[in-house]
Amino acid sequence: MFTSLLEEHITYFSSLLPERCFTDIGNIEKYSHDETEDLYVLPEIVLKPETAEEVASILAYCNMHKIPVTPSGARTGLSGGAIPVEKGVALSMERFNRILHIDEDNLQVTTEPGVITQVLQEAVKEKGLFYPPDPASKGSCFIGGNVSENSGGPKAVKYGVTADYVLNLEVVLPTGEIIWTGANVLKNATGYNLTQLMVGSEGTLGIITKIVLRLIPHPTHDLLMLVPFYNAEEACAAVSTIFKKGITPSGLEFMERDALLWTHDFLGESTVNIGENHAAHLLIEVDGFDPDVLMNECSDIMEVLDGFQTDEILFADTQAQKDALWKLRRSVGEAVKANSIYKEEDTVVPRYALPELLSHVKRIGDEYGFKSVCYGHAGDGNLHVNIIKGELSDHQWNEELPKAIRALFEEVVNLNGTLSGEHGIGLVQKDYMDIPFTEKSLSLMRHIKSIFDPNGILNPGKIFTE
Ligand code: LAC
Ligand code: ZN
Repeated sequence: MFTSLLEEHITYFSSLLPERCFTDIGNIEKYSHDETEDLYVLPEIVLKPETAEEVASILAYCNMHKIPVTPSGARTGLSGGAIPVEKGVALSMERFNRILHIDEDNLQVTTEPGVITQVLQEAVKEKGLFYPPDPASKGSCFIGGNVSENSGGPKAVKYGVTADYVLNLEVVLPTGEIIWTGANVLKNATGYNLTQLMVGSEGTLGIITKIVLRLIPHPTHDLLMLVPFYNAEEACAAVSTIFKKGITPSGLEFMERDALLWTHDFLGESTVNIGENHAAHLLIEVDGFDPDVLMNECSDIMEVLDGFQTDEILFADTQAQKDALWKLRRSVGEAVKANSIYKEEDTVVPRYALPELLSHVKRIGDEYGFKSVCYGHAGDGNLHVNIIKGELSDHQWNEELPKAIRALFEEVVNLNGTLSGEHGIGLVQKDYMDIPFTEKSLSLMRHIKSIFDPNGILNPGKIFTE
């Protein structure tokens, strides 16, 4: 279906982007993978455009010649979205690295997609402004990747996910036309919402070249506590009671015992005391502008927790301690990856169903003989389930595990949840899309894809099975 790269194509790209077009292994190897498991496919060429017009020329050419194009950001994704499975072009957005305008009058920022999320957050913070979505990889991921995957992170529980901040996008379509999707306004009832259609579309509908985000005033204070539980399901059960009490924490994270132990090993430092009988911890943050209000919220949370079996609660009383706890939490994913071959699921359920989800994970693990390490954004009902290869044979891993994952996703959907809360479907979850969606819904999605991308050149092999 696709054309392999010919000498004439390379000649065209070299003349379009002299010095920004690479075919040698040294320069293309890193574009063969993202942070997803152990998957690698080399592209045939890596292109590094700097303007929307250059992207338009590349896409129009590839569309005409049926050359596959895989957008590439910082390659921190966890669903294989940036892996060029059909080879062809890896379109790196790394040169789109400028914050174009911080609009302090309207509390907005216009940025290019290749800006590191944390760099953007720090730039707006200097003006007293806050861009909350903060994926674990915020120090290295790109804002464009966050938009494409609709990234979340710990703050999503109070402030929402990337989608809640995107107002308008400049997009180059696979056919080479350049459009804006909306307007730089907080309310918009004008036609179909193309902006939100692009958000989370995983690089399959167009290449985002400019992003307009709304911002909010930056909170001035926060408090952080770590709560050890003797029973992991009870930790999950405590989560919804906090919200029912009327408190919305700015972070409510769950970490199973092994998640913490492995991360201690990985970081080579023991940030917290993990007792013999601690099965899981909740990391709870509140933030705002009035320290007294936050103290009251913490007392209310402690009151709720009195109804559960917990050990002594640790309050972070210095910034250094807060930073250490967040570093611990943010490093869990990397720690698991360093420890074993694994598969990461990004299950999400209504938060009251979290204990039930955890019990299904463990039951299915027992049935199929796998160990799992679970952690994640409990306040959002979003549980990262890391399935560990451990002693499983290659046969069990390759042939049996997909059945276990299917069984898990069926339980997730029974609980009114879905496959991915924030990592996307990409390559690794596409085989399970028939569980949350009917054939009709999937066919609507495929139609949308084909309207944007009639030749299917953009990020082929993602979201949908063939
Ligand atoms: C995290 C990433 C894996 O929450 O989403 O650490
Ligand atoms: Zn996460």
